[in-house]
Amino acid sequence: MVSTSTTVAASGRQYLPVTTDISSPNQSLLPLTARVNSQQHLEVGGCDVVDLVKRFGTPLYILDEETLRTACRQYRQAFEQHYPGESLMIYASKAWNCLAVCAMVASEGLGIDVVSGGELYTALQAGVKPDIMYFHGNNKSIDELQMAIEVGCTIVVDNWLELRTLVSLAGDQPIRIMLRLTPGIECHTHEYIRTGHLDSKFGFDPDQLDSVFAFVSQQPQLNCVGLHAHIGSQIFELQAHQDLTGVMVQWLSKAAQYELSIQELDIGGGLGIRYTESDDPPSIEAWAKVICEGIVAACRAQNLALPKLIAEPGRSLIGPACVTAYTIGNQKVIPNIRTYVTVDGGMSDNPRPITYQSVYRSVVANRMSEPLTQKVAVAGKHCESGDIVIKQADLPETQAGDVLVVMATGAYNYSMASNYNRLPRPAAVLVHHGEANLILQRETYQDLLRQDCLPERLKEF
Ligand code: LLP
Repeated sequence: MVSTSTTVAASGRQYLPVTTDISSPNQSLLPLTARVNSQQHLEVGGCDVVDLVKRFGTPLYILDEETLRTACRQYRQAFEQHYPGESLMIYASKAWNCLAVCAMVASEGLGIDVVSGGELYTALQAGVKPDIMYFHGNNKSIDELQMAIEVGCTIVVDNWLELRTLVSLAGDQPIRIMLRLTPGIECHTHEYIRTGHLDSKFGFDPDQLDSVFAFVSQQPQLNCVGLHAHIGSQIFELQAHQDLTGVMVQWLSKAAQYELSIQELDIGGGLGIRYTESDDPPSIEAWAKVICEGIVAACRAQNLALPKLIAEPGRSLIGPACVTAYTIGNQKVIPNIRTYVTVDGGMSDNPRPITYQSVYRSVVANRMSEPLTQKVAVAGKHCESGDIVIKQADLPETQAGDVLVVMATGAYNYSMASNYNRLPRPAAVLVHHGEANLILQRETYQDLLRQDCLPERLKEF
């Protein structure tokens, strides 16, 4: 049990710390180290957010090391506790892939899931060993496949084209692969982030199981070590993952008929996090328990040896560990309609509200003890009416220059950030025990021009 002073919610007040017990970071709106200090400012990782903003500017991603490390440890411990066989946690780095994050996660003993040459390159540069790297993707290029083969990571094969390409690329050493299969399991989450249903672009269809296994069993160049499935993201119900364990163990027994010696089952990721008080995700421990017990029971029933069990969470590891700080600028009051409070970022640093209608919570870091007196829309600065960070935010009275902090922005924010309207991407700092280290520099205008080329004939006009 993590005993923390982070908040769940406090009606009529800002999200002041209230002592509450939560089981794991994915159930907390704010990072585990969030406090209000004596100046009534929000503090994360022992750093005053108002000071961080003075030092590093805004928008600023503030990543709390303790929260990320706690989530990594909880995943590992829960699988060690509930699974009698071998297990490996791998971080789905699509949630946030950069050198510092890869290094931190690997230092906690987690492997890394990558989905592109770029993510693979970054993880390698961070010092992650290829034997704990898994390369996913439904349309890997030949260059990416070659890179993965050279490096020696495990390739999670998605489709027939990839399978045949790998056979043609293989050299003397067999290529270590897994097969991604579509389990045909529906889950309740946004349709864009569901992946396990039959009408999905990912993985082999379940009715192709026999032909895929038969093909792979005839290819000495392919060393098929495992089976993989991922049913979706931001999932709160445990039933879908429990169902998945049964389906995957059935696949395992079918693979045995083809004399494929599958030693690993990768159950994917998908555990949800709390973005608002009404979100109620299960703890990491509860999720792990259901999966481990499901695999053990299904293997016993089929008389199969326990495979090495792999899970690859992304959001629930890093989502709650980060907040984004913005500077408040213009306020537009439309009487009887709405007040817009505008910040200096928006859909370029957090495309999730406009993409998935995601809902976020915020606080004003320099007014933590003030009562919430207004309901406003927090607007971004992009030339797009839909660029609203939070449709309905409860805020104290604010003025230009105040620091608005949006919670739970660690997953799929930086990694999906863009330069829309030519905004430079924000900086990110890692905070821990009162120390703040830059992990991503703020882009400059020069950075924006780095890839621009101006043909000679356009230089004079
Ligand atoms: N494994 C595979 C094969 C995946 O496709 C994903 C996420 C994960 C693991 C990690 O899932 P997680 O534990 O993070 O739920 N951009 C969307 C989320 C897309 C998820 C893509 N796949 C968002 O911002 O909500």
